[in-house]
Amino acid sequence: MEPEPFAAIRWEGDLAGHALVLDQTKLPGETVWLEVRTLEEMRDAIRRLAVRGAPAIGVAAAYGLVLGLRGQSGVDRAEFLGRAREAAAVLARARPTAVNLAWALERLLARAAREPEPRALLAEAEAVAREDREACQRLGELGAALLPARGTLLTHCNAGALATAGIGTALAPIYVAARAGKRLHVYVDETRPLWQGARLTAWELARASIQVTLITDSMAGSVLQSGGVDAVLVGADRIARNGDCANKIGTYPLAVLAARHGVPFYVFAPLSTFDPDCASGEEIPIEERAPEEVSAPWGRPLAPPGVGVFNPAFDVTPAELVRAIVTEKGLIERPDETRVVAALRRAGRLA
Ligand code: MRU
Repeated sequence: MEPEPFAAIRWEGDLAGHALVLDQTKLPGETVWLEVRTLEEMRDAIRRLAVRGAPAIGVAAAYGLVLGLRGQSGVDRAEFLGRAREAAAVLARARPTAVNLAWALERLLARAAREPEPRALLAEAEAVAREDREACQRLGELGAALLPARGTLLTHCNAGALATAGIGTALAPIYVAARAGKRLHVYVDETRPLWQGARLTAWELARASIQVTLITDSMAGSVLQSGGVDAVLVGADRIARNGDCANKIGTYPLAVLAARHGVPFYVFAPLSTFDPDCASGEEIPIEERAPEEVSAPWGRPLAPPGVGVFNPAFDVTPAELVRAIVTEKGLIERPDETRVVAALRRAGRLA
């Protein structure tokens, strides 16, 4: 039996309603839904990763802006826009790497400039969510065609339904292919330090009756060396104009290993994850998180007190290691600046 579909984030009711967020910090043990009613609550939900994954963060930011401005009906246009910009700045600071957040806020600010009314902002936020759902479905269909009828894949972090408003980015092709009868086995990196692979991807795939094998991040090398992996599938948080892709820390070493062992490395991302203003990966801001996530995971001290910790949440995979970036408008094979710019122009994301 198919499991109930779920939306990790959605809006409930009319303008007086709230955003409903599945608290991902509690999974897989507990299913807790948060009713988010203020901009500050949404900023905090994004910061503490109750809602996470680049496209889901974009949708969350859009709803956050609606929550911050819903009391401003009928105010003068300049004042409405000024308040909208202030609210957007608060949300934009919540997490720096996933560009979907800034992209969604800019989209809502552009709508506010045309129609300075909270109702118009809610309509735009709903459009962001709906388009993300459609993009995920398309990524799934395009990606499923790349997968063998029977095969083994490897993924990192969580780029599934939990990370989007739809069926995911890198997991979408797995869902679509499995539904079409393909027999897939997926190795899932646990994804230190916050275990999005172990807690979230393993939960999602098992729930959909897809065969999962959980490994620690440091086992990926020998799994790829064994020759049994057909493809590596990952998502992205920001893709630069030259095709360099930022994703969860640990993605770059996987791409190096995949190249060493001749395994195709695919990145799945909607066009909202591209940042035409970033010339290369060097310009992508990388979030650094609290040292305790490494030294005292889940509040349990492991390292000696006071030890120095480096905790970047993302790394950058150079475009040359990527076989193709799969977008909702088609594949960018062997990405480089010319191909990415051409794809963004075709999609109207770049003049
Ligand atoms: O820190 P997170 O859990 O928000 O990081 C998420 C990732 O790195 C995902 O792989 C990425 O956002 C793509 S999600 C469709």
